[in-house]
Amino acid sequence: MRTRVLPDYETMSAAAADVVASKLRKKPHAVFMVPTGTTPLGMYRELVARHEGDGLSFARATFFNLDEYLGLPPDHPASYHVYMRKNFYGRVDIEPERVHVPDGFAPDPEAECGRYEQEIRAAGGVDLCVLGIGRNGHIGFNEPGASFDSRTRVVRLAESTRRVNATDFEGDRAPERAISVGMRTISDSGEVLLLASGANKARAVAAAVGGEVSEEVPASALRRHPNVSFLLDRDAASALEGSAARRS
Ligand code: GLP
Repeated sequence: MRTRVLPDYETMSAAAADVVASKLRKKPHAVFMVPTGTTPLGMYRELVARHEGDGLSFARATFFNLDEYLGLPPDHPASYHVYMRKNFYGRVDIEPERVHVPDGFAPDPEAECGRYEQEIRAAGGVDLCVLGIGRNGHIGFNEPGASFDSRTRVVRLAESTRRVNATDFEGDRAPERAISVGMRTISDSGEVLLLASGANKARAVAAAVGGEVSEEVPASALRRHPNVSFLLDRDAASALEGSAARRS
C-alpha cells in the first residue's frame, strides 16, 4: 500500500487526474469505477480540462459508478446519475453505452444489483477503482460492518451518513437505503486509488491506514489489496504517524 500526501486539495486532485490519465494512455479501453461526493469534484474538473485542452479522450473507456440512492429517479437533482452527468460524463467524450450507474429506481432492486455485478463481469472487471472515504470509514456505500465478501446489493445507510449527506436533500436526512457495489467487487479491481481531503477525514484515514484490518472500518480492507494508493491532502493525513505520512 502506498500513501502520498499532497500539500492541498488542488494538487491532490491533479495527482488523481494523473493516475486516471496515465491508465487511459496505457489502456484506452480501460474500465474505471468512480465515486461521487465532494472529494472527487476537483479530479473531474481536472479531467474535463485535460479533455478540452489536451484532447484527453475517454471514447474507448468504460465507467461504472460505485453507488446510487435507492428510490431516486435518474433525473432527481440529488441522484448520482445527475451528479455524474453534470460533473463528468456530460462534459467529455464518453460513449453513453459505456457508462453504468446503478438504477436506484429499478422496480426490482435486487435484480438490478445482480444485473450490475454481471455488467462489471461482462466488461472484463475493473482496471482502476477510484474511491472517496466517508467520515466513518465507508467506501462506496459500504458502511461499517459490511462483509469483506459482499457484492453489489441494497444497503442501509448509517444514520451519520444520512445526516452528512442531507445537504443534497430537502429535510435533514438522505434516503435510508442505496445500491452499492460490494467490498469484494471493489477488492477485485486491478488497482485502487483512494482520495481523501480535509481534517474531517483524518480519523477515518488513520484508522484505515494504521488501525486493525476490520469490517468495522471498511477502508481498512484495502490494506490486503496488492495495488492500492491513498492520495491525501495534508489535513486528511494529519492523524497519520511516521512513515505512513510520507510527503511527496
Ligand atoms: C458518499 C459516497 C461515497 C463517498 C463518500 C464521501 O456518501 N457514497 O462514495 O466517497 O460519501 O463523500 P465526500 O467526498 O463528499 O466526503
